[in-house]
Amino acid sequence: MSFTAEWLALREPVDTAARNADVLAAFVADVGPDTSILDLGSGTGSTLRAVSSYLAQDVQWTLTDMDATLLQHAGHRHPDANLLPCDLNDLASLPLIPGGHVTASALFDLCSADYVQRLIARLDQVGASLYAALNYDGRMEWSVFHPLDAAVTAAFNLHQQRDKGFGPALGPRSAEVLSQSVPGYRVVSGPSDWVLTADHEALQTEYLRGIGIAVAETGLVPDIDKWVQARIAMIPEAECRVGHMDVLILAE
Ligand SMILES: C[S@@+](CC[C@H](N)C(=O)[O-])C[C@H]1O[C@@H](n2cnc3c(N)ncnc32)[C@H](O)[C@@H]1O
Repeated sequence: MSFTAEWLALREPVDTAARNADVLAAFVADVGPDTSILDLGSGTGSTLRAVSSYLAQDVQWTLTDMDATLLQHAGHRHPDANLLPCDLNDLASLPLIPGGHVTASALFDLCSADYVQRLIARLDQVGASLYAALNYDGRMEWSVFHPLDAAVTAAFNLHQQRDKGFGPALGPRSAEVLSQSVPGYRVVSGPSDWVLTADHEALQTEYLRGIGIAVAETGLVPDIDKWVQARIAMIPEAECRVGHMDVLILAE
C-alpha cells in the first residue's frame, strides 16, 4: 500500500495535535540520553518531528520505510538520521537494540494480528519498548448527521481489514491487540482523536474521497458518491472526529 508525501503532509499537523499527551510524556520519561530510536514505517519522518523536541539532542534516529521516495524526503529534512529502506515484514532485519526504543505512527491498523504478535515477540527478545501512535479505532463521528453515516462507517471499517501488505489487517482493532500482546510489559494508552473542522478543508476533502474509494470497493453502500459530495459540502458546518488510540508498551 502506498502513501504520498502530500497526503502525509496534510495529516501531519492534525496527527501532531492529536497525540495523547500522557502517552507521549510516559514515552519521553522512558527515553534516556544517548539513545537510539528506530521508527517503523517512518514516511517522511513525522514521528521524529513530533517528539524530538521533547528528547535530548543526542538521540540517534533510524527511519525505516519500504517507500524510497518517502525516505528520500525524510533524508532531505533530517540529514542526521539513519535511513533504512526495508520491508517491515522482514522482522529479522530490523536493527533492534537491547533496551532500545521503537516508534511508529499510523502503522498498526495496516498490520495483521499475527504480524503484531511476531513484532512484540521480537521486541521482547531484546527488551525493547514500543510507542505506537495514531492507531485508527473505527470511530468516525460528525456533528451534523447524514443518514448514510453508519453504513459508510461500517463499510469503511470492513475495508480497513483487507490485506495492506501484512496479512489481514487489524484495522480498528490494532490498539486493542497491541495492548493485549505483551505479558510482562507495562502498557500506557489513551485516545488521540483527530478533530477536523472547517480549518482542515483540504485534509477533510482528501479523507472523504479516500473513504469513498474504499467504500465503493466494498459495494455495500450504493449511494456512496452522493454521501461523499454531501459530506464535502458540509465541511464548513460539521466537525468530524476520527477515533485513534496511542499505545506505549514499556519493557520493565
Ligand atoms: C500511514 S503511513 C504513516 C507514515 C508516518 N509514520 C506518518 O505518520 O506520517 C504508513 C507508512 O508505512 C509504510 N509501510 C507500509 N507497509 C510497509 C512495509 N511492509 N514495510 C515498510 N514500510 C511500510 C508506508 O510506506 C508509509 O510510509
